[in-house]
Amino acid sequence: MRRHLLALACAATLSVTAIGPAKAEWDGSYFPNVELVNQDGVTLRFWDDLLRDKIVVVNFVYTDCPDICGLSTARMAQVVDWLGERIGKDIFVYSISLDPGTDTPQRLRDYADAFDAPDGWMFLTGSPENVDIVRFKMGERSESLAQHRSDMVIGNAATGEWRRASLMGSLVVLTEEILSLDPAWTLPPAIASLETITPGQLVIKDTPGEGLFLSACAACHTVGEGIRVGPDLSGVTLRRDREWLKAYLKVPNRMLARKDPVAVELDKAFPAVRMPNLQLNDTDVEDLIHYLAVQTELLGQPQEVAEAAGHDHADHSGHGQSGHTHADGHQHDHSH
Ligand code: HEC
Repeated sequence: MRRHLLALACAATLSVTAIGPAKAEWDGSYFPNVELVNQDGVTLRFWDDLLRDKIVVVNFVYTDCPDICGLSTARMAQVVDWLGERIGKDIFVYSISLDPGTDTPQRLRDYADAFDAPDGWMFLTGSPENVDIVRFKMGERSESLAQHRSDMVIGNAATGEWRRASLMGSLVVLTEEILSLDPAWTLPPAIASLETITPGQLVIKDTPGEGLFLSACAACHTVGEGIRVGPDLSGVTLRRDREWLKAYLKVPNRMLARKDPVAVELDKAFPAVRMPNLQLNDTDVEDLIHYLAVQTELLGQPQEVAEAAGHDHADHSGHGQSGHTHADGHQHDHSH
C-alpha cells in the first residue's frame, strides 16, 4: 500500500526546491500583508486578517487541477472534520488558488461546497501579483501549475512556530501536528478519540484494492452510501463497460479532453470537482475494479441493473461480466 501513497507524493513534489527551514520562526515582518479574496468575495489582508494570532494550515490548489489537488482537498476535508469546532475559532485552513485568473470566488465557492467546507476553511484567490507574493513567501515556487507541490505549511502566528506538513501521509499524525501548534494542547486523549471516530479510514486491510480505495478514493466516493464529492460507485462495474472503466481510472482527464461522451456526462453532473488522474498502474486498476465489483456484489444487485442484465444474474462477480451493460446505459445512476 505504501508505495501508492509514496508514488503520489513523489509525483507531485518533483519540483521540490528546498525553501526555508523545516521549522521556522516567522513573524509579521516576514509575511506580506497583501489582499486576497475568499470564496464569498470578501477581501482580506494576508497578515492582518488571515494569519495574525491564529493557528493556520495553508496549501495551494486550483480547481482545474487534473491530478493531485482534488485528492489533497478531499484529505484536507477529513482533517477539517476531525478538527471540528476549532476550525474557524482558533484554527483556520487556507487553500490558495495557483490559478487566480481562472479561479473566481464563485468557482471557489462551488469547489468549497463540493467538499462541504465550513466557514473557517477559506479558498482564496486574488490578483496574480498578490497570489505570487504569498506563494513565494510560503515556499510554493514551482514554475508551472503541473509541478506544484502537494505539501503545505502549518503554523501558529502567535508563537511564530511554522512547519512543513504533508497531506499524503497519515492524516491522524497530521491532525495531531496541527493541534500540537497550540501550546495548551496535550496529546493522548484527543488522539485516542480520533482513532475511534473513523476506524475504517485508518485500517489498511488485505483485500486487493481495498487499501488503495480507502487511501486514494474513499475521501471522494462511497460504495453504496451515496454521493460524496463524486458519484456513488456501487454498481459502477455493472453500469460501465470494463474497458471504459479501466481507461477512465487511468486517464480521466484525457478521456474528458477527447470528449468521451460518458466522461463529459459525468463532468456535467459533478461540475465543481474533477475526477483526478492518480497515476494508477494496471495492477492498481485491476485491484480497484475487483474491489468495486466485490463491494457491489455484497450490496446486492440494484434492481434496474438486474433487469438490464437479463438472465445473467449469477455472473456479476466482477470478472465474468461483459457486453450486458453499455457505457451509456445508466447514466442517471450517479445522481442519486
Ligand atoms: C477529489 C475527489 C475524487 C477522488 C480522490 C477520486 N474521485 Fe473518482 N470521481 C470524482 C468525481 C467528481 C467524479 C465525477 C466525474 C467528474 O466530475 O470528473 C468521479 C468519477 C469516478 C468514476 C466514474 C463513475 C461512474 O458513474 O461512471 C469512477 C469509476 C471513479 N471516479 C473511481 C474512482 C476511484 C477508483 C478513485 C480512487 C483511485 C477515485 N475515483 C478517486 C472525484 C474523485
